[in-house]
Amino acid sequence: MDTRIIFNEGIDSWKTVIFLYNAALKEVNTKLEILNDEFKHVHQYNPIEYIKSRMKSPESIVKKLKRNGYESTIENMVNYVNDIAGIRIVCSFTSDIYRIAGMIGKQNDLTVVSVKDYIKNPKPSGYKSYHMLVTVPIFLSDSVVETKVEIQIRTIAMDFWASLEHKIYYKFEGNAPEYISKELRDCAGIVSMLDGRMLQLNEAILEAKRKQEELELEAKRMLKEQQRIQQKGELQHGGSQA
Ligand code: GTP
Ligand code: MG
Repeated sequence: MDTRIIFNEGIDSWKTVIFLYNAALKEVNTKLEILNDEFKHVHQYNPIEYIKSRMKSPESIVKKLKRNGYESTIENMVNYVNDIAGIRIVCSFTSDIYRIAGMIGKQNDLTVVSVKDYIKNPKPSGYKSYHMLVTVPIFLSDSVVETKVEIQIRTIAMDFWASLEHKIYYKFEGNAPEYISKELRDCAGIVSMLDGRMLQLNEAILEAKRKQEELELEAKRMLKEQQRIQQKGELQHGGSQA
């Protein structure tokens, strides 16, 4: 397969474009790390388990352009391939996904171009994830370029499922035998059930912790009160002896 990109403006423009997408990945990665650190600082809890980022290979860019009927030019790649810079955020619970998406949406310098919620509306394959297409301004010496980054947010269980499904998809070039596709769809159901139960379990743990802290606080308060009464009694007793 011919994987060349037509460089209308020379190899320099290819280098510039790749430089921009790399810069955008760095910017968004840093933002996410700061959000995660701040969240940990305020709530003593990490909503993000880990972040993976990647640049799409020239071969995959050309394949995607061809698949969608576009000529392999830099202009087409910039306009029609939205996932040249891609970031995947993996968290423990579904609630973290929406929390992170909300935090990303509130960043003033990020523009949310589109959102696809494959958690509320899973793909027929069973695929679940929350996708956001954002642009981040890259400040160059003489201009500012809004650069696209595709963000995928999913749980550990969704990520486990998606990586196996991806391997199977490639192995069978999209034509997996029906029993395998069915097994995958069944597993997607199990993933949703697991995510739901883990979330409930985590909420139950948090609630138990909250109750325990309440009890401890009440016990401390009672002990103080007891000490206060005892001290008062001793004072009165001592007073009557004098
Ligand atoms: P692509 O042409 O694949 O990028 O799809 P799109 O432009 O319609 O966007 P979409 O949000 O549907 O998918 C973007 C990305 O999500 C893909 O590149 C994959 O990383 C991931 N994805 C989407 N659907 C599936 C799926 O069924 N299985 C797996 N494993 N990943 C998927
Ligand atoms: Mg893609």
